[in-house]
Amino acid sequence: MNFDQTYSVLDCIKINTKYLMDYNIDNAQCEIELILCSLLQCDKIDLYTKNQKISQKDCLIIESYIKRRIAGEPIQYILKNSYFYGRGFFVNENVLIPRFDSELIIDIAKKYGCVDNILDVGTGSGNLAITIAAENLAKNIVATDISKQTIKVAEYNKQKLCPEKNINFIIDDFLNSTINQQFDIIISNPPYIPKNEIDKLDDIVKKHEPIKALTDGNDGYNFYNKFSVLGKKLLKKNGVMLLEIGINNKINELKKIFCNYTIEIFKDLNDIPRVIKIY
Ligand SMILES: C[S@@+](CC[C@H](N)C(=O)[O-])C[C@H]1O[C@@H](n2cnc3c(N)ncnc32)[C@H](O)[C@@H]1O
Repeated sequence: MNFDQTYSVLDCIKINTKYLMDYNIDNAQCEIELILCSLLQCDKIDLYTKNQKISQKDCLIIESYIKRRIAGEPIQYILKNSYFYGRGFFVNENVLIPRFDSELIIDIAKKYGCVDNILDVGTGSGNLAITIAAENLAKNIVATDISKQTIKVAEYNKQKLCPEKNINFIIDDFLNSTINQQFDIIISNPPYIPKNEIDKLDDIVKKHEPIKALTDGNDGYNFYNKFSVLGKKLLKKNGVMLLEIGINNKINELKKIFCNYTIEIFKDLNDIPRVIKIY
């Protein structure tokens, strides 16, 4: 690619979108827009309305990002940013990239107004816990993860996005949990991909995202089994659990696991069961 000082944002979008498409990258235009918004610190609309030019220095940065993207790195790790519920979260390879589908948990939680406390298990970048706090859906939040590096990222995001809120980040292995408190709502997007499905994932996921965030190392039901055992202890009277599920998690199996509870199923925008409400 040849960049010069007259290179406009619109040319950059056009040329690089085609370039990424030639490498079979889906959402090529969207990814170029993300790169430009991050570099120019502007909104997407500004790319198309402000007739901006790109400096030589930024051209070189764009070129390096595009090389990394073509080599298979997710754009969110390259830009160290991922959007969730309209907020930009810092992400690196210690945390799962927040997925749009997980926003359904927040939408369901909103129906309860502002509760006293919420537990988020496997907080990752802190996207769920921090969104709950920022949307004023709980006065106190406990957010756990097994990984120290992950908790560091979540704490960083809390300072960045809602420093005034009460979120207690704790390193805790949920499968051997020491949590001894009761909550109005428990939310979680646990590692639910069966171990034997990991090989089938796209390289962009399996080569970059933390394996501990993807799979329980077993059949994908370890965490649901544990929620079933601990739910009665960790939930207040009338408390609920909102748990994300994946396409490999069979509803009949989940109904067996939660046979001592009531289970409701919520579908995502693709009509795929995505969240179960347990009470
Ligand atoms: C699917 S990711 C979800 C991250 C984030 N909540 C989200 O929705 O993007 C699952 C998270 O669970 C954490 N985790 C894995 N095993 C765990 C365990 N035994 N106890 C607590 N957290 C665990 C992982 O480190 C990872 O951050």
